[in-house]
Parts: sequence; structure tokens; C-alpha cells
Amino acid sequence: MPSLPVAAPHDPAALAVALREHGACRLPGFTDEAATGRLREALQLSQSAGDFHPAQVGRGDAQGLHAGIRGDSTAWIDGHSGPAATAYLAALESLRLQLNQRLFLGMQEVEAHFACYPPGSRYRRHRDRFHDSDARVLSFVTYLNRDWQRQEGGALRLYLSQGAVDVLPQGGLTVCFLSSIEHEVLPATRERLSIAAWMRTLAP
Ligand code: OGA
Ligand code: MN
Repeated sequence: MPSLPVAAPHDPAALAVALREHGACRLPGFTDEAATGRLREALQLSQSAGDFHPAQVGRGDAQGLHAGIRGDSTAWIDGHSGPAATAYLAALESLRLQLNQRLFLGMQEVEAHFACYPPGSRYRRHRDRFHDSDARVLSFVTYLNRDWQRQEGGALRLYLSQGAVDVLPQGGLTVCFLSSIEHEVLPATRERLSIAAWMRTLAP
């Protein structure tokens, strides 16, 4: 199984090269240990405030709950999500501007949600795009669990042109990939916490 290239968190040039050549990249340390801990606390606060809802699949007439396809619950990050989440969005926003200069992808906004996969849940093979829209250009996932063990499962499996790659959801790791790439979330034996974010054009 091939492995994913790595870029340092503050090296957008290296990230741009990796995305151009492989379509995906690891960004360890995009959130440092303290920021990762604060984001985990913000997620848990949002959970206890009842902000999480079971994620839906599709949109328009096709929209619906399909727990067999997708079992996570999510809460959008907004101005009420606390300072750690605000700082995370600001870091992505600054990365968006730097990547636009290098990749000419015309990305105009960032959106992000907290996600929680209960034990045993999954998200079957999919693309982060609706069938009628290619607005999402880049996908980011930042993992928030402490001390994830390989035997706990829950890998993100990316179907790259050179083959499938599994990434363990280790707290503090961020993964970035082109939103056109197929991927899936394998079931875990433990609650799996993350932020999923997208850089998108303004198309519908
Ligand atoms: C998603 C997704 C991957 C992950 O939210 O669309 O594919 O590893 N997440 O959580
Ligand atoms: Mn996805």
C-alpha cells in the first residue's frame, strides 16, 4: 500500500506540490497538541449543548438519513463554536489564500463541521461533492482523538490513482485531499472525533 506525502504545517508550497502530484497530503501539526486539545473540548461542549445532528446524504429531493452509508453526527462550526474553532477556521482561511496563489483553484470560502462517529459506524466510499455541484475543491480532516491505536480501526481510506491508502485518525493529524477523490471511513471500536473542512468555490 503506498503512503501519503507529508508537508510541514506552514509550508503551503510543499502542500501545493503534493496535491498536484498525488492529490493528497498529510499535515501533521497543522493543529499543535494544545490546539488539538482545545478543539476536542470545543467539540465536546458542542455535543453537550445538543448541536450535533445525524449527518444526511445527498441534497434536494435525494437528501435523507442513511445510517448504513454514513453513521456520523455533525455540528457546523460558526461564530458560536468558541475561540479554538475560530482560530482553526482562520488558519484554514490563510492557507486558502496561499494555495490559491499556487494552484489557481479559485477557492472562495471555507466551511467546517465537527464530526463524531459512534463505535461501529462508517462512511461508505464517496466523494465530497454533490452530483450537481463541484463547489468543493479541497477537503481537510483534522483528527481529535488522543492516542489512537491501530487495532481500534477507523482508518480513512483514500482511493488514489496509485492505489488505496489508509490513514489512522491520530489526534493532531490533518489530512488534505482533492474533493474529487473517492474515500471512505472504516468502522472503529471507539468514538471517533474530527473536524471535516472544505475549501470551495461559490458555485451552488
Ligand atoms: C467526510 C469524510 C473522513 C474522515 O466527512 O466527508 O469523508 O476521515 N471524513 O473523517
Ligand atoms: Mn468525505
